[in-house]
Amino acid sequence: MLLQSINGGIRLNNRKLKVGVVGLTVGASHVKDYASSDTVKEIVLCDVDESRLKEIGDIYNISKKYTDFDKMLKEENLDAISIAVPNFLHMRLSIQAMEAGVHVLCEKPMARNAVEGRKMLEASQKYNKKLMINFNQRFLHECQTLKSVIDEGKLGEIYYVRTQWQRRRGVPWWYPLSSGKEVCGGGALIDLGVHVLDRAMWFCGYPDPEWVLGNTFCKVSKDEAARKGIQNFELEDMGVAMFRMTNGVMLELEASWASNRENEMITTRIYGSKGGAVLQREIGAVNDACNTVFLEIGGEVRNIPLEEMKISKKPNVRQAFLDAIIKDEEVPCTPQQGLKITQMLDMVYLSAENGTPVKFE
Ligand SMILES: NC(=O)c1ccc[n+]([C@@H]2O[C@H](COP(=O)([O-])OP(=O)(O)OC[C@H]3O[C@@H](n4cnc5c(N)ncnc54)[C@H](O)[C@@H]3O)[C@@H](O)[C@H]2O)c1
Repeated sequence: MLLQSINGGIRLNNRKLKVGVVGLTVGASHVKDYASSDTVKEIVLCDVDESRLKEIGDIYNISKKYTDFDKMLKEENLDAISIAVPNFLHMRLSIQAMEAGVHVLCEKPMARNAVEGRKMLEASQKYNKKLMINFNQRFLHECQTLKSVIDEGKLGEIYYVRTQWQRRRGVPWWYPLSSGKEVCGGGALIDLGVHVLDRAMWFCGYPDPEWVLGNTFCKVSKDEAARKGIQNFELEDMGVAMFRMTNGVMLELEASWASNRENEMITTRIYGSKGGAVLQREIGAVNDACNTVFLEIGGEVRNIPLEEMKISKKPNVRQAFLDAIIKDEEVPCTPQQGLKITQMLDMVYLSAENGTPVKFE
């Protein structure tokens, strides 16, 4: 292996990483990516559920399996880990891993609230470990393409963004929702809204929020919750917010687990001074993407399918994390961004509770 000094740090060329994954439901997709990465030399699995451990271990032929996270950290000399457990464990497991010298890719949302998120950011600084938040929506081909269109200045100055993840019926009943905010930190906003808020913020350069007016509702799912034995279901099945950013950009957010509307749709719409864009994906539809850029050409606004501007290669979210470790570069989805998103959602929940606009401090 070659040793090379980069930005004052040491980097190992041709380095291969030993990677852990804790939580093997959505974590299975992390395992899949690591298993096909030529920068991973070994994978170690952890889940309290032995049947999940066996199932994923068998699929990827992984023999190192733990039901105890602390034991795994102690016995395995991991370089990096994916944290894919329920939200209430993100902070504790991420900090423990970084303290043990392990770089962390933490599933979204960063944490249940900004207090926890800030502790995670501080731990990454204290232990000098990378902490990336798994905002994988950004890595969709259409998002990568639109971002390159925006960065080329084709849309001009962005001044309005509307971003939505809307479900007709899709409450994740398999989460322990009866424990309310304790486990998840919130409902549709923190589960789905976090993804579309991140991508909208990323498109417009992550400006600082100034004000928000938001509200949350649970108008559709209470009966279904009761039928499932969950009394006093308190999480929002829908949340909406209008943010004013310090640079004047207005950003509207809507997220629903359940609402009376068409099928599930993920949409982000952008208005800029020179052009606009819409990304729209109907989940479950055959031809599921309707992605268009609107540009004024010769005095006329034309619809240009994003497909025609498609960038040839797109990064993989998990590989981007590994590459940042190997090259000793900043991770693409930073803990500062994760924290800003968490703070924005805290503001929405506070606005909903108070019934007033909330100013970002
Ligand atoms: N990025 C995405 O697109 C995406 C999609 C789904 C979920 N998520 C996020 O991933 C996280 C997990 O979601 P999920 O749907 O996989 O949840 P889940 O509850 O279905 O699965 C969590 C897994 O973690 C295991 N687990 C729980 N506590 C553990 C512990 N202390 N040690 C080891 N294993 C433990 C459980 O046994 C289970 O297998 C959540 O934060 C969620 O928001 C992200």
